[in-house]
Amino acid sequence: MSELNNIALKVIGKGKGILAADESTGTMTKRLNSVKVESSAESRRNFRETLFSSDSMKNCIGGVILYDETIKQSSSSGKKIPELISDTGAIPGIKVDTGAKVLASSPEEKITEGLDGLRERLKEYHKLGARFTKWRAVYIISKDCPSKLSIVSNAHALARYAALVQENGMVPIVEPEVLMDGDHTAEDCLKKTSEVIKKCYDELILSKVDLKGTILKPNMILPGNNSKEKISSEEIAELTLKCLKDSVPTEVPGIAFLSGGQSETEATENLNSINKSNKTNFIMTYSYGRALQQGALKFWSKNTQDIKGTQNTFNHRANMCSLAAQGKWSRDIEKKNN
Ligand code: 13P
Repeated sequence: MSELNNIALKVIGKGKGILAADESTGTMTKRLNSVKVESSAESRRNFRETLFSSDSMKNCIGGVILYDETIKQSSSSGKKIPELISDTGAIPGIKVDTGAKVLASSPEEKITEGLDGLRERLKEYHKLGARFTKWRAVYIISKDCPSKLSIVSNAHALARYAALVQENGMVPIVEPEVLMDGDHTAEDCLKKTSEVIKKCYDELILSKVDLKGTILKPNMILPGNNSKEKISSEEIAELTLKCLKDSVPTEVPGIAFLSGGQSETEATENLNSINKSNKTNFIMTYSYGRALQQGALKFWSKNTQDIKGTQNTFNHRANMCSLAAQGKWSRDIEKKNN
């Protein structure tokens, strides 16, 4: 088994998933301000360190995606943050794109940047302990979007990124996120997401990326957040599985979903339904940002000294997600353990 495949399986195997704690300073400042906590390098470090030292890290979190600031920080006791994570058994990862910018010729859409100087930055991140990476492309759904231009350009950038990451001994997470904003139907989301993912694999294959050493991070197939359509968790699972079965090459070891604005319970329930009817060989797990951190952040903001209480909130969410990654979650367990 290749070394990269080994890393991928450690990150997403055995009922574990990924904690996406890679919010840029701008996004993290918004999150902290929304719960009335001042954003500083220290407050961002303190909240994240609290999560990384939680008991659930050992059994529920296979990898943590960090932001540039955090991978270079030390914990309050002086331990390097990547070491704090490795000590729990989880693998440190790093977001390496530099953000989504306006796409020239199609200004409603975005193209993700960060390829210039990427090889050098990857070498530095590897030295700091990272063994996997993330690059997020974003797409909008509307009558004419995502455009061919956005689908092709973002897939090309993802493939160049993934090839460079593997060259430097790390596993690339390939994240094409089709946003849930809009009034489109779940069928629209299925059609457009499938087109986006297929193009990503065309480009990854052209760039000779070893698919066994990659992880896909897609959106689930959902109706738009302004759509009147209401569908069940089982229907979401069915559409999501159909999309992935038809668009993802079988060499890919696993899929770690983003939560993309779903509530913590929705993201857990939908992942559980996916695993209950998953007949593919893909591991299906979580790479959640908001759906793992929201409750913990709210709790912490009320008393930033209450480390244990914050960790209990995070442990509960992580345990529920881990059960969902195995298709063993239920509403009763959710209530009983809360
Ligand atoms: P959410 O789960 O909050 O969507 O964040 C995941 C992520 O890393 C988006 O790039």
